[in-house]
Amino acid sequence: MTYLRNCWYAAAWSNEVSEEPFARQYLGEHVVLYRTADGKVHGLEDRCPHRFAPLSMGCLVEDQIQCPYHGLRFGTDGACSYNPHYKALPSAAKVKAYPLLERYGMIWIWMGDEPADESQLPEDFGFLESEKFTTVTGYLHVNGNYQLVVDNLLDLTHAPYLHPAFAIPEMTTEERLKRTTTELVREERRVIAKRWRLSCPPNGPTRTLFGFKDKLMDSRSHMHWLPPSLIYFDAGAARVGEEEEKGLCLPAIHAITPETERTSHYFFGQGRNMLLEEAEADETLLGILRNAFHNEDEPMIAAQQSRMGDTTEIMDLDPVLLKSDGAPIAARRILSGMIEAEQAN
Ligand code: FES
Ligand SMILES: [Fe+2]
Repeated sequence: MTYLRNCWYAAAWSNEVSEEPFARQYLGEHVVLYRTADGKVHGLEDRCPHRFAPLSMGCLVEDQIQCPYHGLRFGTDGACSYNPHYKALPSAAKVKAYPLLERYGMIWIWMGDEPADESQLPEDFGFLESEKFTTVTGYLHVNGNYQLVVDNLLDLTHAPYLHPAFAIPEMTTEERLKRTTTELVREERRVIAKRWRLSCPPNGPTRTLFGFKDKLMDSRSHMHWLPPSLIYFDAGAARVGEEEEKGLCLPAIHAITPETERTSHYFFGQGRNMLLEEAEADETLLGILRNAFHNEDEPMIAAQQSRMGDTTEIMDLDPVLLKSDGAPIAARRILSGMIEAEQAN
């Protein structure tokens, strides 16, 4: 499978990585992440060039990672920095060092050979560091190709079928879909799948968790796709006719990173502008999200992937297309155009 390489992929939440080597696979490549004593994060190929032991099974010795098998050590640039068996350093003994960037409480990895470009990291995720919001975060391993996860997010018509917790008791699923207005915005490097319902009963969590008693509210759920597979989700609900910012705002990040062709890393962060200090709200919200993603979305994506047989490219199977597939298809087109352009270079 050919991936877009010269771009940032979400690699880990910052708090996942410490001085203890941490192994994770990205785009089929094994990488070890760790922090040196100054707190900086580093990423090296997780395979010793001697007998191919995983460096992540070793430990840090004075900021160098020591192979657990015969003790070669490597510096943060990936070059062998110590050979306990002979004074000379074998010049071929080096591993690939990956550029990393730490921002928004996350570690981002650059998988391409072109120089890493910080300006390519989208600014949409500033809410993760803003005092206006409290955020809960999580990680999910998905048994499916990363684009299937993106499709799932860009087509929210699955929500009333797959996620009963988000049901609106006063409306049938059909009524709900009928009352939802949609708009698809295509930009050069962004697709926005906009959905809103004006003057409709709010969904379960808006009432039970955030305590809105209004019978009718204006709700929105706008998914912004950004290459390669990042989603900024602008969701919320306001009193009828009220400005969006004055109501409940629930910005979220869904960052999907291919692990292998058939498996994905799914990082989610859910912000809220209400109940900022309430730990109980953290737990409730995390419970709702974990249930939806772990128990409902992931098993569906895994089942879908298994029914697709050997392929991971759904378009090769000539799927039936519905109106709501506009956003996933637009995103796939932009991404495959970018991959083609990168390959041609
Ligand atoms: S496998 Fe790493 S030093 Fe031998
Ligand atoms: Fe879902």
